[in-house]
Amino acid sequence: MVGEDKNEMVVTPWEVRGKIDYERLIREFGTQPLTDELLRRIAKHTGELHLQLRRKIFFSHRDLDTVLDLYEKGVKFVLYTGRGPSGPVHIGHLVPWIFTRHLQEKFGTKLYFQMTDDEKFVVDDELELKDTKSFAYENALDLIALGFKPENTFIIFDVQDIDMLYDIALEVAKRVTYSTARATFGFQENTNIGWIFWPAIQAVPCFIHAKLTGENVPALIPAAIDQDPYWRITRDVAPKLGYYKPAQIHCRFLPGLGVGGKMSASEPETSIFTVDSPEVVKRKIWNAFTGGRATVAEQRKLGGDPNICSVFQYFYFLFEGDDDKLADRERRCRGGEILCGECKTELTERVVKFLIEHQKMRDKAKNIIDKFRLKR
Ligand code: TYM
Repeated sequence: MVGEDKNEMVVTPWEVRGKIDYERLIREFGTQPLTDELLRRIAKHTGELHLQLRRKIFFSHRDLDTVLDLYEKGVKFVLYTGRGPSGPVHIGHLVPWIFTRHLQEKFGTKLYFQMTDDEKFVVDDELELKDTKSFAYENALDLIALGFKPENTFIIFDVQDIDMLYDIALEVAKRVTYSTARATFGFQENTNIGWIFWPAIQAVPCFIHAKLTGENVPALIPAAIDQDPYWRITRDVAPKLGYYKPAQIHCRFLPGLGVGGKMSASEPETSIFTVDSPEVVKRKIWNAFTGGRATVAEQRKLGGDPNICSVFQYFYFLFEGDDDKLADRERRCRGGEILCGECKTELTERVVKFLIEHQKMRDKAKNIIDKFRLKR
């Protein structure tokens, strides 16, 4: 989806910008909305719905109903998600990972997690392989810090583990034509051939469980909707290789602290990284774009607009677990009872508290990372 003007929506695996219209993405990507009926089915297995489902942060899917049908007949699924290690992890990346951890706990499933140090090397002109490999290690610490179970979590470091991926990647690559890849990913004449082959590698973990264990089960992929183009080609190929089509559950983007778009590492001042210090977090949140009015008097009189406020979105996505308190904050904002400075201060306190704990767990992860490697 290529936009001409600055505000037009662009959503690809490598670029997300403009005002995101999620209904339109469902239509154009050909996915299904996550209906209340499907949510009730999930709740039968998980108990109370996770915050990200209650608040429709996860809003779309492909074949989640099929995965639940199979699960209810005794066929387990595996989870698959990943990270392109091009720099430090920001809190937007944590959104699908926190939800993945919840699914792992509730369904007792295995998770295959792909660190695409190869992808980021071929896609980004500035990065050397040694950089992306080092970010892959650093980013894995963030994943482990979230509390995934080592006995059920397998991190694939593409460059190191390529011997376990390559045969399936070849099977996939042989069945995807250049014209399909170009139409799906927008490749140009000057796109390097490493990048053109690369989508075959992101398909592999959908099938790796079947290959390693002989158990043919479907994969369910929780991720933001930017990754969807990969699954379109993978789903076409899967039956030709004798595997289930991978299913997806898609989330919205945590916005950056600026105006519109998503949190993106390429705009560091509007992104909160997991390794940021309290001072840096405070500065970034203090400079955030909000739905506030120009003056205190106007705000008291007219109220703010939480719909366009990045600070409110952070409470909504991650930092206010209590629905009543969230609704109360929204009401007080609209009524002019609360000013932006108060929300920013409270959000800063919560983010700093979360990050101090996360950074401790991240440090501890260095001692246990080997337990999470995909075993040969
Ligand atoms: P990457 O590193 O761009 O993103 C990692 C994961 O974070 C999601 N994401 C976000 N979610 C919410 N709000 C945001 N602002 C935000 N920004 C990014 C992405 O959708 C993704 O789930 N090619 C992939 C790596 C990968 C992968 C996968 C991702 C390999 N296999 C399977 C998902 C599922 C990439 O570069 O992700």
